[in-house]
Amino acid sequence: MELIFAQEIKNTDQVDLNVLSSFQSKESNLNSISKTNPLSRFKSVKNFKAEYNQQIMLTPDENTTCLINGLGDKTKLTNEKLRRNVASLYKSIKAKNYSVVAIDADSFFFNNNSKHQYSILIEAILLADYTFEKYKLKKNESKIKKLILVSKKISIKEANEIFEKVNCVTESINFARDLINEVPNVLYSTQYAKIIEQDVKENLKNVSVKILNKEQIKKEQMNLLLSVNAGSAHEPRVVHLTYQPKKMSKTSKHIALVGKGITFDTGGYSLKPGDAMAGMKFDMGGSATVYAAFRAAVLAGSENKITCIMAITDNAVNSNATFPDSVITGRNGKTVEILNTDAEGRLILADALDYACDQKPDAIIDAATLTGACLIAFGKEVCAMLGNDEKLIKSMKASAEEVDEYLWQLPIIQEYRDDIKSKVAEIKNIGSPRMAGTAIGAVFLEHFIKNDIAWVHLDIAGVCEAQSHLPYCPPHGASGVMVRTIYNYVMNV
Ligand code: BES
Ligand code: ZN
Ligand code: ZN
Repeated sequence: MELIFAQEIKNTDQVDLNVLSSFQSKESNLNSISKTNPLSRFKSVKNFKAEYNQQIMLTPDENTTCLINGLGDKTKLTNEKLRRNVASLYKSIKAKNYSVVAIDADSFFFNNNSKHQYSILIEAILLADYTFEKYKLKKNESKIKKLILVSKKISIKEANEIFEKVNCVTESINFARDLINEVPNVLYSTQYAKIIEQDVKENLKNVSVKILNKEQIKKEQMNLLLSVNAGSAHEPRVVHLTYQPKKMSKTSKHIALVGKGITFDTGGYSLKPGDAMAGMKFDMGGSATVYAAFRAAVLAGSENKITCIMAITDNAVNSNATFPDSVITGRNGKTVEILNTDAEGRLILADALDYACDQKPDAIIDAATLTGACLIAFGKEVCAMLGNDEKLIKSMKASAEEVDEYLWQLPIIQEYRDDIKSKVAEIKNIGSPRMAGTAIGAVFLEHFIKNDIAWVHLDIAGVCEAQSHLPYCPPHGASGVMVRTIYNYVMNV
């Protein structure tokens, strides 16, 4: 599908379908139609009230087909409602048989912020267009060849600028979705690291790449990561990317992004039951999420320095695998009693966070599919956030709200900290059974943050996949949710 920006339709465009929106109003339900439009002879249409998401097809003459998209009450429309409407609209058009589609962008604008709304149209279309069909023998080819976004209010130059900005993010989200959806027999640690290295080389500027292999990880004393990797057929990897912006201002910050990259989570010796194990290819979602946010910020030319650290291994079982009851000393010297090898995400993140602290960032954001408990607390819709710095937490919450992603804080209290004190070591990797599981994960991670660096932990276990309520996400598989929030934070901090 080719996305084209225009200020008007030319006769040579041979449009198969004209799409325009209409708001609910007392006078007419086709209120956005200009006098020059062939549709203008329809004052109103029976049974079409321009309710939100209501659609009607009209054929004003034999050469013209129009789809009118209801946006409901103009005063009640929001950015997110627009984003969702455009995404479902795009998917419904894609399912039909039109090759050239023209969308009247101006008819979607609900207030003066038309540039932002124009960017939402593009964002919704590019996110909704994503599918993962690599392993389908028969692909669902889109019939849409050309999608013309027509606007009199936005100049072609402005349209291209808006597209460039949006595309940095949507392309990175779709890249992350591909990684998360990729199957574990293809995307194992060494392969994953290679894909990232290659993507950086091909697409990003001012980024240095360091990939730690097993020897180097041993030298770094990342024993917790090594303990998770012990049962694996593949070497672990730590991908360490540094973006140094060309121009840094006095207010430029250094942000470190850290992600859990478990390419498959069997649970290790604390083996997951079959039902709970299927789907665990997405356990590297945190690392793909932070990489996508990093990638988007680099493409968009962030003025902040950004470090991205991905801790990568699978969590498998063989005769070398770590036994529950083992005690391992982490990179920061703390001894950890591993009582459950399925609580592995916090172990690999522990060493990665300690390593991240050594880069001396102003703030650290980590993302991980860390706990099943997060789904119990928040369902699939809300991302959990915990951290040690109220200012950073507030700022992340605001970043999420601005891009309409659901992010909610959970508390860290002393009692939770006490719950992971170990009888034989400094700490243990689980707390009391079924109690505050998501927060327990966070208090464990907190042990590996040093020098009072501001830190937030995002538990994306719920939001990482299957966001069937979000039309701009595929109903199954990776969502890419939280990339926009982290990107927004990194760009504007
Ligand atoms: N990767 C899982 C978390 C998870 C579970 C994400 C289900 C999404 C859906 C993680 O490694 C894990 O297994 N956590 C355990 C921790 C427990 C042993 C303390 C869990 O949540 O059961
Ligand atoms: Zn696990
Ligand atoms: Zn896991």
